[in-house]
Amino acid sequence: MTAIRAYQLTEHDGRSIGRLENVELDQLGAGEVLMRTTYAGVNFKDALAGTGRAPIVKRFPCIGGIEAVGVVESSSADAYRPGDQVIVHGRGLGVDHDGGFAEYVRVPADWIVPIPPGLDMFETACLGVAGHTAAVAIDLMELNGLRPESGPVVVTGASGGVASLSIDMLAVAGYAVTAVSRRPENSDYLRKLGAQHVIPPPEQDARIKPLDTAEWAGAVDAAGGHVLAWVLSRMIPNGTVAAFGNAAGVRVNTTVMPFILRGVRLLGVNANTEPDLRRRLWNRLGSDLKPRHLTDISTPIGLTDLPDLLEQMADGQTRGRYVVCFE
Ligand SMILES: NC(=O)c1ccc[n+]([C@@H]2O[C@H](COP(=O)([O-])OP(=O)(O)OC[C@H]3O[C@@H](n4cnc5c(N)ncnc54)[C@H](OP(=O)(O)O)[C@@H]3O)[C@@H](O)[C@H]2O)c1
Repeated sequence: MTAIRAYQLTEHDGRSIGRLENVELDQLGAGEVLMRTTYAGVNFKDALAGTGRAPIVKRFPCIGGIEAVGVVESSSADAYRPGDQVIVHGRGLGVDHDGGFAEYVRVPADWIVPIPPGLDMFETACLGVAGHTAAVAIDLMELNGLRPESGPVVVTGASGGVASLSIDMLAVAGYAVTAVSRRPENSDYLRKLGAQHVIPPPEQDARIKPLDTAEWAGAVDAAGGHVLAWVLSRMIPNGTVAAFGNAAGVRVNTTVMPFILRGVRLLGVNANTEPDLRRRLWNRLGSDLKPRHLTDISTPIGLTDLPDLLEQMADGQTRGRYVVCFE
């Protein structure tokens, strides 16, 4: 029996609670590939699961962490050999299958993506689910006609992990970016990533017109709620909005006017992508979409720092990406 350190989620009074524990290696979830974790990026979903603020976890006990980067230790699948460097994210990881906040992770082989050319293991972890989500959003907007010459792109919830990476990627690709942040103290950080303008979101109770000044050709929306309604009202004709988040709320009080009078396209983003798309976008993340400021965006932490960090993240007080380092 070998014990490993892990951040385990258990259920108390109908809510999930996370804590650091020793877990037996042979108790890990099933799969053909055992990997030794080197890094695990931290996401808002992990914060909701670890603090019990939303019913994210589907099976208890479950090791938390919806992503992990590591080295294959053993594999019964032909596609992977010991020593291969890989990332795994999504599917049921950290939700109904033991996740990335542990020294080892065991998963089905078809959940895994090899580290793509152009990225090392730390850079891959800095990107993680957040980078993949940003890539899905940008790719979808481009498939719907967005180009740098179409006009500026707005990014909401700008200080967050997905949004920070989106700003950097969009700037690399030649887009003019406007960042929307509740925190003016993060303006210098957001400008350094490539935002040309930093503006506040509307107040929660602001009256939002069905159609307002047409400003943006594209939108990457981490906020949802009233912020998404405001963004929709300010899109130029045929603008594309990639909606992936709910940091400001899940209900959107809007009208059909942006859609029927300006042809605005509202695109839903789900980062739990199929294998072909997943690999194509990871290749883009190592090449044309690779951000320039990964080390400015990312903060390395230890596993023991995780519980406090998850509380701060659930409160909307963190900035950029956080990566748990196991070595
Ligand atoms: N669809 C998918 O597949 C997918 C994948 C990944 C993430 N997500 C979702 O995307 C969102 C962002 O994820 P993340 O990991 O980047 O989270 P994060 O790092 O915690 O960032 C969220 C950001 O949203 C802003 N925010 C927080 N509370 C807010 C509020 N009450 N009103 C307005 N803005 C608020 C903050 O930025 P400012 O302080 O700068 O305003 C915060 O930094 C989350 O809702 C997450 O669940 C979805």
